[in-house]
Order: sequence, then C-alpha cells, then structure tokens
Amino acid sequence: QRPKIVVIGSLNMDLVVKAVRAPKRGETVLGEEIHFIPGGKGANQAIGLARLGAETTMIGAVGSDAFGVELMKALQADGVNTSTVKVLNSEATGVASILLAEGDNSIVVVPGANAQCLPEDLDRYEGIISEADLVLLQLEIPLVTVEYAIKLARKHGTPVMLNPAPAQSLSQDLLSQVDYLTPNRSELALLAKMAEESAIDQGIQRLLELGVSCCVTTLGAEGVAFMELGTSTLANISGYMVPVVDTTGAGDAFNAGLAFALAQKKSIREAAEFAVKVSALAVTKFGAQGGMPSLAEVEAYFRRAVDEENR
Ligand code: RIB
Ligand code: NA
Repeated sequence: QRPKIVVIGSLNMDLVVKAVRAPKRGETVLGEEIHFIPGGKGANQAIGLARLGAETTMIGAVGSDAFGVELMKALQADGVNTSTVKVLNSEATGVASILLAEGDNSIVVVPGANAQCLPEDLDRYEGIISEADLVLLQLEIPLVTVEYAIKLARKHGTPVMLNPAPAQSLSQDLLSQVDYLTPNRSELALLAKMAEESAIDQGIQRLLELGVSCCVTTLGAEGVAFMELGTSTLANISGYMVPVVDTTGAGDAFNAGLAFALAQKKSIREAAEFAVKVSALAVTKFGAQGGMPSLAEVEAYFRRAVDEENR
C-alpha cells in the first residue's frame, strides 16, 4: 500500500553556476556552465517521495511565469498532486542561485511566491492533511505557515516531520510538537544553542529535552545519528562511499527516504538506514531532483553493492 504524504513547502528554480573557484568579495571570475533546473526543498522532497512510490501532495506557491510552469511540470511528471499549489500573478516564482565551486555549493534563495504560501491556504486542504500518513515540512516558507501546518496535522493525529532547513531558530513550543526533526550539523547547533558543532549527542539530547520526539541528524558522508525520546543512547548509521557528482539536494533525498519509510510504519532505525541509501544515490547525479532514485533503483544499487562486498 502506498503511503500518503503531504509536503508543505517551497518550489524554486535553481540557477546553477559551475566555476573552478568561488569569487572573493568584490571579485569577478569566469564560470564554466549555467543550468536552470527545478528545485526548492519542498518540491525536491515531494519528487523524492513520489519516485519512491508515495502518493504525494505538494502544497506551496509559484508565480504565473515560465519558471512556475516548469516547476509544476516537473512535479506532475513524477505524479505529484499539484492541484494544491497556488499560482500567483502578483509574485515571481522562487529562485535559488547556486554556485558549485571547489567541490562545494553555496546557495542564495529569493523566496518570491514561496513567501505567499500562507496559513489560510492550508484550511482548504485540511481533509488531505487529516488523511495523510505524514506531513513533511521545511523552512523555506513563512514560519507562521509551518506552525499552522503542524497545528492542523496534530489536530488530526497526522505525524509531523520537520527538516529545519535553511537554519533558523525555533521556539520550544514549535519543537515540542514535532515528531521527527532532521537537522544537519549546523542546524542542530543553532537549534540546540550550542557553540560547538561537534557535540552531536549533546545537541540531540537537548532537542529531546525541548520536546522533539525523535531527532535524526544528518552528518554528510559520515551518515546519521539519531535518538528517540525515552531512550538514552545515540544510534549511528554510517554513510556509503559513492562517486559524488552533486550534493545539492542530498538532505532532501534523505528526508524523502526517511518520510517514506516512516509513513510505511518502519522503525526509526530501518527508516534511517533506508534514507541514507536514498541520499547516497542522489548525490551520484547532477541536480537536486535529477538524482532522486526510484525504489527499484535503491534496491538494485544496494543489492549490487552488497554482492560486490561479499565477493
Ligand atoms: O536543498 C536544496 C535546495 O535548496 C535547492 O534545490 C534550492 O532550491 C534550495 O532551496
Ligand atoms: Na544530486
């Protein structure tokens, strides 16, 4: 049975520029390539979910411009329900300016229409939220909308997963209503108000004290660390060695994988193990959405990888 998941979040056109190195302040450098590809944390996660086989609904907003049309088409091509995406004449579609240089990416997001994804838009979709197995959120839409989404989900007993990206500090009231929180290192440090990014276990413990039910921290190539409320030990899952092409959207792939498996009522360990595989595959291809694997691809790749290991 396909899990039903509602993603409430951003849609961006990613303007990806590749350069040998990043310019210093005030400097101009020549780039090598530019690509216009669909992105946005919300849309990326929705596409990741749909490819894995979830019945996925995307709630968000785009402008009535060419970028908006293209973002909607990308979602529809993967079978995501987009009748819940608002199309605005008054706003431009969100854009993320992404610089890929020196094996790293840096991103500036201009929210545009995403800033108009408002609490009142959600009322119309209360039925969909109530019937979902999970609601998945990020922080590229107004915080008031995220808060309201959590409130609606909880009213109907629908589990809430929040990917707190881009980093932003959050109130204890909000955190205490989140079932699954998925910060990366720096987001964890900010949310747990720690000066030191390396004290993962302390940070996770602090978030559980603030009322998060389960905290799963992504550690890039090192895998993930997680802890559930009521348990006292931090669990680790190591990452996979894969040929990395583009890490943009690795976190989105992870969140899609985790949400998919949790919505299928898998244990947190099983879900995290699956999510690590999904994100490992995602970084082997260019683009945030380009590398999102299907369930069959995840199974085939890791069956092969395991076979090779055993040889
Ligand atoms: O997580 C990656 C995404 O962040 C990109 O697709 C870009 O749109 C930014 O929002
Ligand atoms: Na990718």
